[in-house]
Amino acid sequence: MNIIDGKAVSKAVRERVAAETAELKKTGIMPGLAVIIVGEDPASQVYVRNKEKACEEVGFYSEKFALPENTTQQELNALVQQLNARKDINGILCQLPLPKHLDDKEVINLINPIKDVDAFHPVNVGAIMIGDYNFLPCTPAGVMELIHSTGVDVCGKKAVVIGRSNIVGKPMAMLLLHENATVEITHSRTQNLSEITAGADILVAAIGRAKFVTADMVKEGAVVIDVGMNRDENGKLCGDVDFEGVKDKCSYITPVPGGVGPMTIAMLMQNTLTAAKVQNDIGNE
Ligand code: GUN
Repeated sequence: MNIIDGKAVSKAVRERVAAETAELKKTGIMPGLAVIIVGEDPASQVYVRNKEKACEEVGFYSEKFALPENTTQQELNALVQQLNARKDINGILCQLPLPKHLDDKEVINLINPIKDVDAFHPVNVGAIMIGDYNFLPCTPAGVMELIHSTGVDVCGKKAVVIGRSNIVGKPMAMLLLHENATVEITHSRTQNLSEITAGADILVAAIGRAKFVTADMVKEGAVVIDVGMNRDENGKLCGDVDFEGVKDKCSYITPVPGGVGPMTIAMLMQNTLTAAKVQNDIGNE
């Protein structure tokens, strides 16, 4: 069994982005990311702080908009429209979840798709479906980087995704399909789930239940990617996979923390760089 080091893969992506950013700056272009956070959710505050820190490290301009809990939809929409119009802002990210009285769909739909570095806008979701995209959603894109880091070829393999969210499960399946995997999407209502997952060469768990995937659900020699971020019965951070039980059965596995988590921010940096290039008519190879 090999543990996939998400911190190391994330660092490599961020270093590549930093090097490209340094080159881009010589032509007078500075990638800029705006991060909007509404309210006081402590987890969101940590994520936003980490995003700002990552921007600084790779050499981007970043601006945080911390709005009070009682912000109205009109005020939030007006901010997005201002940011859409700003030349120095290439990427706009509105941290989710929003307070209950605000509609996240309305905000996402308002972000100019070319600045939508989360790839949540329907235009970007559709672009992913047909395989003609600028941005990939950060978490699934990070998972693909982790799979690539193993050297395992996805082509022709059976990949099973557990979870069907718009942010992870659905786009995850699409990215695996683009690389010619045979993909099955499963979820909480799937019958005979263990039998299906036990046939997977590549298993991606994104169901949001602590230690849900046990050894009997995993094929000998599989690549296991754990997108989960849960607390176990002792309040300790854990994934959707029972790491201790599964680790000796698979060929590669991601830990939690230190697996998929660090990749999400790295891919956000990658998307912001891409946004700056596309908005300045620079080819994005
Ligand atoms: N909240 C949790 N994950 C994410 C994410 O990837 N993007 C945004 N905007 N909010 C989130």
